[in-house]
Amino acid sequence: MREKINKLREEFNSSILSIKDEKGYESIYFRFLGRKGEIAGLFKKMPEVPQEERASVGSVINEFKKFCEGKLEEAHRNLLREKKEPGKKTCLDVTLPGTLPSLGRRHPITQMVSEIERIFSMMGFTVAHGPEIETDYYNFEALNIPADHPARDEQDSFYLTSSYLLRTHTSPGQIRVMKKTKPPLRVIIPGRCFRRDAVDASHLHTFYQVEGLMVDKEVTFSHLKGILEVFAREIFGPQAAMRFRPDYFPFTEPSAEISISCFPCRGRGCRTCSNTGWLEIGGAGMVHPSVFKVVGYNYEDFSGFAFGLGIDRLIMNRYGINDIRILYENDLRFLRQF
Ligand code: DAH
Repeated sequence: MREKINKLREEFNSSILSIKDEKGYESIYFRFLGRKGEIAGLFKKMPEVPQEERASVGSVINEFKKFCEGKLEEAHRNLLREKKEPGKKTCLDVTLPGTLPSLGRRHPITQMVSEIERIFSMMGFTVAHGPEIETDYYNFEALNIPADHPARDEQDSFYLTSSYLLRTHTSPGQIRVMKKTKPPLRVIIPGRCFRRDAVDASHLHTFYQVEGLMVDKEVTFSHLKGILEVFAREIFGPQAAMRFRPDYFPFTEPSAEISISCFPCRGRGCRTCSNTGWLEIGGAGMVHPSVFKVVGYNYEDFSGFAFGLGIDRLIMNRYGINDIRILYENDLRFLRQF
């Protein structure tokens, strides 16, 4: 009897592999599991099995029956799947390497903003944010740039209405912070700015700046220089040098243009710095009394410095990038390097 079962098992195993369609499935089903099938036949022969062996032979037949049912059910499921999605592989190879989910990372601009925030926090600065849609008042008027001021020409703007525009710099954040806060204060305001500039390798309609503002009793230009130098060394290393040259901004007096030694060539001159060894990264100065007047600060008691740095410029200098546009194109070949 056991021999017969083993033989049937072999037959079953080879015939189940030959199932190609519903018909094949049915004929094997009836041959083994049908009312007059092989397994029923085995059960019929039980009376011939010696009494002592009946229980164990019975359980072997039952186990074989369950095995056949399971295999046939699986075969039937595969037939149905093949009908629904022809050609689809039905087997799962768990030894194949899995598909790695592609991990995102932070954009170089976001990384630089975090780093700027970290460095200025160390020096007691807080971080504030202003709106990207500004009023003409905050973007210009309050910063001592009235409607007919020639300084407006330098910041071609995207006006939304006659009094709303996309901010052309982060400086309006100074006014917003000072109107809300009593001095002394130290704050940086990073954010996105917009100008109607013609696009080229160093200009884009959208870019990032960080504004800095410190107001206290007896704040001087030396404090400004000291703080910016600490900042430059943190970002570019101990050999980084800064250059301050006289400049003009309506909201600071005196004002300076800030340049930093070119990082890729260590100031020797290269393509990134147009062979000058320096890269202009922003402007700065001592807060103009008329700005203090606008926000209600007493300029007899307080003084302050302000600066505005181009974040894209800092990134370009640090990595020797010659074209600002690449920072905004979302090209993964570029972004994966950071
Ligand atoms: N807002 C100026 C610009 O975008 C940069 C600037 C200059 C900011 C001098 C300042 C400053 O805070 O004091 O051109």
